Amino acid sequence: MKVLVIGSGGREHALVWKIAQSPLLDALHAAPGSKAISSLATCHPEIKADDLDGLVAFATGESIDLVVVGPEDPLAAGISDRLRAEGVAVFGPSAAAAQLEGSKAFSKDFMARHDIPTAAYAVFDAADEAHAYVDSIARPCVVKADGLAAGKGVAMCPDAQSAHLAIDEMMGAKRFGTAGDRVVIEEWLQGEEASYYAICDGEAIVSLAAAQDHKRALDGDEGENTGGMGAYSPAPVVSESVEKKILERVVHPTITGMAADGHPYQGVLFVGLMIDEAGDPYVIEFNVRFGDPETQPLMVRMEGDFLPVLDASARGSLDAAPALGWGDASVCIVLASGGYPRSYETGQVIDGLSALEGQDKLVVFHAGTKGRESGDGFETAGGRVLGITARGASVAEAQERAYAAVARVKFEGMQYRGDIASRAIGR
Ligand code: AMP
Ligand code: GLY
Repeated sequence: MKVLVIGSGGREHALVWKIAQSPLLDALHAAPGSKAISSLATCHPEIKADDLDGLVAFATGESIDLVVVGPEDPLAAGISDRLRAEGVAVFGPSAAAAQLEGSKAFSKDFMARHDIPTAAYAVFDAADEAHAYVDSIARPCVVKADGLAAGKGVAMCPDAQSAHLAIDEMMGAKRFGTAGDRVVIEEWLQGEEASYYAICDGEAIVSLAAAQDHKRALDGDEGENTGGMGAYSPAPVVSESVEKKILERVVHPTITGMAADGHPYQGVLFVGLMIDEAGDPYVIEFNVRFGDPETQPLMVRMEGDFLPVLDASARGSLDAAPALGWGDASVCIVLASGGYPRSYETGQVIDGLSALEGQDKLVVFHAGTKGRESGDGFETAGGRVLGITARGASVAEAQERAYAAVARVKFEGMQYRGDIASRAIGR
């Protein structure tokens, strides 16, 4: 098979790393890819992930058998629809189905219609109505920008004052651009978070595994929301009985509901969940792509050939796809630039990577790096820079291996959390 992966970050590096191991693979391309990805796939830096015309021209011109879409933006812009119209198989939902992530109002209305458990909510297009609502509820709430905001358009508001401020930032100061023209205000759910992944082909599903990420900067969840500072899998809160509820109450009704609404869902369904004390799952959000950094530990833990599963999702034949297995445990620690998720510097030289090459049960995924302008090696080129990912017989063993590797890497301003996966170990 000839495969094209769209994207350039840590998630795509992990997908490429896994796909590259498939015996079914004849050629692997990435657009745009990255210097790090180029050791596993032929990269096309001139074709950006949002260049729909360029991507379609490449996939048809090169007779690509399967396109795997990493990020949400090209999905929301309709890359899957464009490719399918040209007869190219694509792993990823249509633009209509991608609204599950692209619009929080769409996904909340969808869940309400199909009885999928989620926080109570209200949607506002006018700031004065949002402010009035906050005064009327007088309890902790969560204010969310409706559109795509790279995982950052969410404000946890313990009191009315912080909720008013969040509404002003989103609807007034436009901190997230047009994504904040509409806001969703939700009940603040209590419990433990986990994410769950299932591959879908419109009707059938193959469940993957659960993972937990750490969305906030700073140890103990003291900092701001980020794209994710680390992740691990499995997630102990997702016991067998909780998983059963997630599948029965959330995943299956979502796939059936999307098909009934005329938007059959193909691709990966990534459900962000709050599990309450009784072990009942509530949907915090849907994502229509793999999580970043959760994909890094998932790919490192997954056993078996992922490529035929991705391909079967694209072709509607998941029932016949080979089974996947799940080994032990894995942990990913994100090394980020100083200042992230606000402003940060790039261009810092990264030291210590060569010492980690070829280490057993350890993979370094690159999220925001590029080849150095002069000399060998890498420099920083983004907020999240590296995902140091280790496997182990237990989460504790994987954590220890990952932090031992982290201690060998250095760049100016480097920040990371020292407590990734500690909650899973302390249970
Ligand atoms: P989202 O982008 O919707 O996943 O929200 C980002 C993070 O905000 C989630 O991972 C949760 O930690 C938190 N969050 C969002 N909505 C809620 C909610 N209704 N109750 C509690 N926490 C929430
Ligand atoms: N790590 C959370 C996300 O990918 O949305």
